[in-house]
Amino acid sequence: MTGDGPAGTAARSAPTRHIVVMGVSGSGKTTVAEGISAVTGLTFAEADGFHPASNVDLMRAGVPLEDAHRWPWLRELAGWMSDRAAEGVSTVLACSALKRSYRDVLRQGPPSVDFVFLEGSAEVIRERMARRSGHYMPASLLDSQIATLEPPQPDERILTLDVALTPEELVTAAVNGLGLLPRTTAGPAREVALPEG
Ligand SMILES: Nc1ncnc2c1ncn2[C@@H]1O[C@H](COP(=O)(O)OP(=O)(O)O)[C@@H](O)[C@H]1O
Ligand SMILES: [Mg+2]
Repeated sequence: MTGDGPAGTAARSAPTRHIVVMGVSGSGKTTVAEGISAVTGLTFAEADGFHPASNVDLMRAGVPLEDAHRWPWLRELAGWMSDRAAEGVSTVLACSALKRSYRDVLRQGPPSVDFVFLEGSAEVIRERMARRSGHYMPASLLDSQIATLEPPQPDERILTLDVALTPEELVTAAVNGLGLLPRTTAGPAREVALPEG
């Protein structure tokens, strides 16, 4: 019996998409990920918000996290994407994902993950960081972030974009480059057209 499909409904729904906007602090991850969410309706999350309190304390004190601090956090993020995938919900996550090994943990979550890498010079990013307030990561950590960054390798599904573009241009480039569907503005999908005679 091969034609009927499984009893559940999952086979009927389109596969979910899971986007991670990556880059060093100040590169524009939150801005671009929120923009992608606004245009496409993908569910947005901020990876910083998944850190255990012990990690937040270290970052507030200006102490760079060790990898040992990061694995539980990355597994939590992979699990969040995987849980959303199981619900049929597509996601866009703002997450630095600086090392290949961090990205590999994220890839262990949902069936597929696409990354958008916001690439830019230290000068551009440093200037933005200096203007920003109310964020717990001191600008002094930018150097360590840049030293840690492992740029995308050829076998990774990563779209690289230049942070010198405007946020609007970056969101458009990401949506187009990833083949995401803009959410329709045509009105409620459930409204059934009445026959017009
Ligand atoms: N493409 C851009 N051009 C100019 N300013 C930007 C751009 N993207 C982000 N910004 C600004 O730079 C700062 C850092 O952006 P943010 O999204 O918080 O970065 P991240 O989440 O990577 O730390 C914010 O003040 C934001 O408004
Ligand atoms: Mg951010």
